[in-house]
Formats: sequence, C-alpha cells, structure tokens
Amino acid sequence: MNRYRKTVYLLLALVAPVPAIAQSNASCGVTTEVLYRNPNVPIEARVEDLLRRMTTEEKIMQLNQYTLGMNNNKNNVGVEVTDIPATVGSLIFFGTEPDLRNRMQQHAMEHSRLGIPILFGHDVIHGFRTIFPIPLAQACTWNTEAVRRSCAVAAQEARMSGVDWTFSPMVDVAHDPRWGRVAEGYGEDPFANGAFGAAAVRGYQGASLDDSLTVAACLKHYVGYGASEAGRDYVYTEISRQTLWDTYLQPFKRGVQAGAATVMSSFNDISGTPGSANRYTLTDVLREKWGFEGFVVSDWGAVGQLITQRHAKDLKHAGELAINAGMDMDMMSHAFDAHLAASLEEGKVDTLTLNNAVRRVLRVKFQLGLFEHPYTPENSTDSRFLRKESLALADTVAQESMVLLKNNGALPLKGKKKMAVIGPLAKADHGLLGCWWGHGNDDDVDVFYDGIMREFGSQCQLRYAKGCDYDGDDATGFAEAVKAARWADVVVLFLGEKSRWSGENTSRASIALPEIQHRLMETLAQTGKPIVLVLSNGRPLELNRMEPLASAIVEAWQPGINGANALAGILSGRINPSGRLAITFPYSTGQIPIYYNRRQSGRTHQGFYNDMTSNPLYSFGDGLSYTTYTYGDITASATQVDKNGRLHLEVPVTNTGDMDGQETVFWFVSDPYSTITRPVKELKHFEKRMIKAGETETFAFDVDVAQDLGYPDGNGNQVVEVGEMTILVKDKKLTINITD
Ligand code: GLC
Repeated sequence: MNRYRKTVYLLLALVAPVPAIAQSNASCGVTTEVLYRNPNVPIEARVEDLLRRMTTEEKIMQLNQYTLGMNNNKNNVGVEVTDIPATVGSLIFFGTEPDLRNRMQQHAMEHSRLGIPILFGHDVIHGFRTIFPIPLAQACTWNTEAVRRSCAVAAQEARMSGVDWTFSPMVDVAHDPRWGRVAEGYGEDPFANGAFGAAAVRGYQGASLDDSLTVAACLKHYVGYGASEAGRDYVYTEISRQTLWDTYLQPFKRGVQAGAATVMSSFNDISGTPGSANRYTLTDVLREKWGFEGFVVSDWGAVGQLITQRHAKDLKHAGELAINAGMDMDMMSHAFDAHLAASLEEGKVDTLTLNNAVRRVLRVKFQLGLFEHPYTPENSTDSRFLRKESLALADTVAQESMVLLKNNGALPLKGKKKMAVIGPLAKADHGLLGCWWGHGNDDDVDVFYDGIMREFGSQCQLRYAKGCDYDGDDATGFAEAVKAARWADVVVLFLGEKSRWSGENTSRASIALPEIQHRLMETLAQTGKPIVLVLSNGRPLELNRMEPLASAIVEAWQPGINGANALAGILSGRINPSGRLAITFPYSTGQIPIYYNRRQSGRTHQGFYNDMTSNPLYSFGDGLSYTTYTYGDITASATQVDKNGRLHLEVPVTNTGDMDGQETVFWFVSDPYSTITRPVKELKHFEKRMIKAGETETFAFDVDVAQDLGYPDGNGNQVVEVGEMTILVKDKKLTINITD
C-alpha cells in the first residue's frame, strides 16, 4: 500500500464517519453564545475575543502550514504529516474530494479546545480541473476581464473541492526567460503584472470571501523573485531600492489595492536580506505604507532556507528573523512549531508580534466564513468540474492568448488539399497543460491534431508524422515526416517544450529548443514546402535558426485543455488572431536581459553587440492580425496640465482591412528627462476592443497625472516632474506639459 493511501486511511481512522455535514457552530461544546462564534458580531471583535482565549501554544499552531495528501510538486520533497494536530493553522491540500478535507476539518473542529477551522490551500495557478492557458499566455490576451473570469472558474472548482485559498496570482516581473517561472507570471511589465494580478484577485475572491465559490488569493512571490541572477531559480537578486519600487513592488501594490487576502514571501535574497525575513518589504512597505491587513505565508521551506542563505544561525534564529520581519505563517519549515515558544520565553519574539500574526490569520479565516461553514458541501464532480461555460471560456482565453508572430501570407490556410501535421507537440496532451497543471487531466486535453482534423478534415487530406521527440537524438522519425511533407501542399509543424520544462526549478542556460527539433525543421525545410510553425512553450524561445525556415509562426503557448479549436481556427482564418506579446523574445540567449522598458544609454549610436543584432527577434506588444489598423492622431483635453490634474486622451483606430478584429491599444508615457532617469517608455494603460472591418473605434485614456505620469522614488514616494511628457500610442506621439 503506498504511503499516500496509508496516510488517508490513518486520517480516516482518526475521525468518526462524518454525519450529514453539520453546518452548525456546535463543536467541542462551544455554542454561539461565545462571542467569536457569533456571526452577527463584527469580525475584528470576533478576532479579539478568540485571541484572548487562546494559549500561546494554540497561537503558535495557527502560524503553521503542513501538507495533507501526496505532494505532487517534485521540487519540494513532500513530507506527509501522518499525525496532523487538530490545532494546525493551515494545510496544503493535494486532494480533490471534499470528503478527505471535511474529515480533517472535523478533526480540528471537534478535537481542539476552541474549534478553530483549518485553512486549506493549494496551487491553483491557471485552473483547478478546467486548465486554462498558462498565466504568461493569459497576459498576451490583454483581456483582464477574461483573466478575472478564468480565475473565478478556478475558484469555483477549487472551493467545491475543499480548497479555500490559492497560492496565486504570481505577479513577479521577469526579464529573464532562462528563469522557467516566467511561465507563471504576466510578463516583463510592471503595469501589466499589476493589471492582471488585480484581475486575478477579483476573480478568485469575487464580491465576498465568504461566498461558497470564492477562494482567498495570495500575491506571490513577495518580492523581486523574477530578478533571479542569470535566470537561476532561488538565487540572489541584486535590486536597488529604486528598481524595487519602480519595477517589482508595483504589481503587489495593485494586488493589495484589489483586496488580496494574503501574500507569499519569496525565497530570493533581496540585496542581502532574504524576502522571508525582510522587515523593510514585509512591514515598512506592506503594512505601514500600504496598510495590508491580511497575512503573509512563507514560500515552502523559505524560513528554514534562511540558514542555507547564511542569514540565520539555526532554525530557531530563522523563525525569529522571519516573524520579527513580519512573516506570519511558516510553510513547512517547522521553525515556528519547534522553536517559537522558546523564542517568546527568551524575549527574542514579543507577544505583540505573535498576537499580530495570529490576528491576521484569524481575520482571513473569519472573512472566508470558515467558522460558520467549516465544511465543504458534498457535490458531484459533474456539477463541479469542466462545466460547459468553463470550457467555452477556456477556448476564448486560448484564442486571445495565441500570437501570430510571422506571416508571409501563408496564413490563413485556404484551398490547401494536402496538409502534413508534424512534430512532437501535434498530438501532445500533457504537454499542453503547462506548469502547475494542478488537477488537470491529460484525458481532458483537446490535442492540436484533433482540432485540425475538425477544422480542415472535410476539405483537406491530412497526414501525421511525429518526426521526433521533444529532445534526445533519435532521428529515425524524420523519414516518415519528410515523406509526408513531400506529399503535402503545406506543413504544419508543432514544436516546443514539455510542461515540466518551465515553471519552478526549470532554469535553462539556453532558451533554444533542443537540437533534434531544429534538425527536424531544417530537414523538412529542404523539401521546399511552406512550413507553418506552431509553438507550444512556457517561456520566450530563441528562434533565430527556426524563424527563417518558417512561412508563418504562431505562438500557441501552453493553452491548457481547450486550445485546439483556437489554434485550428487561427490557421483556417475562422479566428482573427489578437494576442500580443507580454514579454520580449530575444534574438539570442546572449542578449538576456532584454526588455522594452529599458533605460537609454548615453550613446544611441554605440554600445551594440559586435557579433549580432542588439534588437530582439520579437518585442513586447508584437503580434500580427489578418486585418490592418490605422491609428489617427492622439487628441487631449489639454496639452498643459497641473501635476495634480487629470487629462482625457483619445485616439481613433480604424480597421482598414476586410476582417473584423480585436485590437489592443497600448498607451505609453516617455519622460525626455527627469531627476531619476525613466525607461525609454512605460506602459500606463491598455484596452482591447473589437473593431469591425472598415469601422473606427475611439480609444480613450483618462490620465491621473500624479498616478499615471509620475513614478515612485526609492522610498516609494510618488514623484511628478514638471515639464514635458510624451504620450505614445503605436506610431503616434503627443507632447504635453506638466506644470506646478
Ligand atoms: C513552491 C513555490 C510556490 C508554491 C509553494 C507551494 O516552492 O515556490 O510558488 O506556491 O511552493 O507549493
């Protein structure tokens, strides 16, 4: 019998069979007369009442998170806690059925003195069972409403499965695609990460956390994890205070403003003070400057890792550093449960610090309604997973996330009679789920080939050949692929990454695909047949060898379970592609870091590489359409504005082609000179809208000068510079003057 099953049986033996799930408050003899049990009392009063009743031991246990069930994240060796204490604050729940969770919860409610419910968390990153495109792909939709809705679906499936709290959204700005976790965030831009992160928080948490279909969100990884040196995971990050404020903190500020219930502290060492013991970020910024009232959970083992990072002497010291910095809940280091009592005894941690941390945890539990509804109602998987509307949304998000990077006229595919469908990703199922696939099921995946069969099968003969595997050096499949290519009018070649090649602990020194995939494409190119390259990957790739061989390139990302119709529709022209890159594709790995919002050097004509271009292959915001758009001039309500004033900007956009299309208008600002140098341009607003063929839509940006045209200095104070400021939209510019 495997360890997991044994654990489950042991747990089930711990608690009596659950009667009809009692949504009652009666537990361990405590009834609603007790103030903290009374739902009609304000939460803060309930928190204080409960806190004063708690022993030190009970308080400490609320600040611990263990795991329940088999840990499926191989990067953290899963320690199954076979004897879970009834007083534990939280569990990472790896199950999908309410029953196991409810039996564990009953153990807490009925075998602890105060009956404090356990908070069950899980990594619901881009779906629970209905798996959506990876977050980086979602950012390429530039559709925050679609992202909000996808997170609402994830929350519904998670909450109905026994999960109250997701460790998402990840809003780590990342400039280095060697770092595999770029897949999990929203790209290279602070404003974009903030906009999508806030949308995700609204989706997960809905209108009220005590709604039975919402979950608590968790902004992660706080902060600067995306700056990991050379793209290696978990390592040191050199981040100046100025960069901390104008790049890495901004998305978290937006997420806190959106009402995120929790934050996860990061592994990385932030210029000498690791994120999980960094009082400046955890207390000075998060609590004192932003007024965050939720709680901070550490990343897995991050407290214990303070020792390895040479910041703590031992585990007890690590726990003291963490909690005194403002980190509230210890995920799996066992620093708090083992040593916090002694630290309190010794005065290394004071009671106020302990009480504040417990208050924050209890506050979220009350907000979630866990005291009134500690159990997850039993429900059928049919009612819970893969709802028709959820699948339709997954298809929409996939459609809007895919980016047409190159098209020499090969697309859309019209009038083709013979199509060769080739490559290791053509029939891949698991490969399309991407990292953090949660409870995504390979059998739920609609593979690309099936989508092509449905879209083209009635008008076109198809031949399939895998050609090669993702990697390795087995070229024995090339012959069959070449034969199919020679037979066909067009080759649709599916290349890319495995799901596990991006995400946590997946750093790569090169972002080029494996050699075997290059050889396959180069061999197919020798047939002279047009190649439409479809990529499925979790990070920007180095494509300088493949790009010249392709007549067209579609970046399909890892679309989750429902991307096949979207891809096939783009190939046929049924769908007009509308995705735009949220992250730069370097021409070469050697260019990294390379991103759009760079600072300008002192020499615009020098300082370039001598061995290759200094330009990326594809830039932030790139993406082609099957139609064309023409932008009119930007107009402004005024061209002179007070630094505390507002401005209304407009730009007309005309669809000059013969196909309806969704266009994203990006509004950038550029300060020609400032006290603290600014990037050559910064995204400050974006809007996506359908524009019918031949019609014109007017896009607007209502500018709050201080917020949108200012910037944070190294202390987080918003600075607005008097003088010129240029507004940039596509190839249009407007200069305005900011006055005192
Ligand atoms: C992991 C990840 C974090 C995740 C946590 C729980 O190590 O860094 O993103 O939420 O542990 O699985």
